[in-house]
Amino acid sequence: MKAPQNRASGHVTTGVEPSRRFCVAPMMDWTTPHYRYMARQLSKRALLYTEMVTTGALIHGDTERFLHHNAAEYPLALQLGGSNAGELAHCADLAQQFGFSEVNLNVGCPSDKVQNNMIGACLMGHPDIVAEGFKAMQAATDIPVTVKHRIGINGRESWDELCGFIETVAAAGCKTFIVHARIAVLEGLSPKENRDVPPLKYDWVYRLKAKYPQLEIIINGGIKTVNECHQHLVHSDGVMLGREAYHNPWILTQVDSEFFGEPEKTVSRHEALEAMYPFIEQELARGVYLGHISRHMLGLFHGIPGGRQFRRYISENAHKPGAGLDVLRQALAKVPQIDAATAFTEA
Ligand SMILES: Cc1cc2nc3c(=O)[nH]c(=O)nc-3n(C[C@H](O)[C@H](O)[C@H](O)COP(=O)(O)O)c2cc1C
Repeated sequence: MKAPQNRASGHVTTGVEPSRRFCVAPMMDWTTPHYRYMARQLSKRALLYTEMVTTGALIHGDTERFLHHNAAEYPLALQLGGSNAGELAHCADLAQQFGFSEVNLNVGCPSDKVQNNMIGACLMGHPDIVAEGFKAMQAATDIPVTVKHRIGINGRESWDELCGFIETVAAAGCKTFIVHARIAVLEGLSPKENRDVPPLKYDWVYRLKAKYPQLEIIINGGIKTVNECHQHLVHSDGVMLGREAYHNPWILTQVDSEFFGEPEKTVSRHEALEAMYPFIEQELARGVYLGHISRHMLGLFHGIPGGRQFRRYISENAHKPGAGLDVLRQALAKVPQIDAATAFTEA
């Protein structure tokens, strides 16, 4: 048993398995601690994921900075990029020591930079290495270890190869697979194109759940609405949203009631942002620029009258020297106060 003390917050890891019924995807530069803090104001139950951190960065870099988070963000999963079993084990142990609720291995990122280091989607061509890494991680920690992957990579995109990958990794003990329902093309497409161009094949993810009912299968890719989530949940154990949860974070206010049976929230967008002021002030006081925090809030008034003025005011002012809460107050004043019920239905 590893020591459950959380070095980040002083909290003690509860050992309770987080629910993955609704997850917010790991996204580099987007799911930063500041985005996650905001997301947590909007949903208490969604499972949040960090940006990917490579094992090399964690082991040789500023570990504390890479793992920095706020206890308010829990439940929170750390996503690792790596393939060396010993390094993955070391980092899984760190994840537990720092209080994360889960540690996840990235087998989906198609960028050239990571491919050269045997990180990300290229590992779909090496199920044995993933299985070995998984085993080492699981042996090093008591928190759940999960894998996020694609349905294939170019040249290795058959149903049988996907099943071979799942079976090899499941044989190492993995119970939870988060499946981005498209292949990754490792040459010729940028990471961004790799999130749009290869067609989505949701039916393959449903077939995985049907073939391996004992495994927890979370579906990811192109999901935009609560209704779509409900449809996917008929055939899978959980949904993971990336871009929609970032560009339209207000969707998160529906998560706790729609997917976890909690009473509906009656908070307005104005109130949600104002509730973050003490946290933002704390961050400013420790030297963080307002722009680093507020860039993640630009989507808060997505699709709402005045939303464009809100975004413009922040974009034009948050980077100025000494910019503080006043910029957010002025930006909020550009948007008419709408009551909570209206705010909710417009999400
Ligand atoms: C800006 C950006 C950064 C991403 N970074 C990561 C990452 O670090 N790790 C990862 O597994 N996936 C990453 N992804 C992929 C997402 O986790 C997700 O699989 C993908 O966007 C599909 O889901 P969506 O259609 O709901 O956005 C990233 C996506 C975006 C848009």
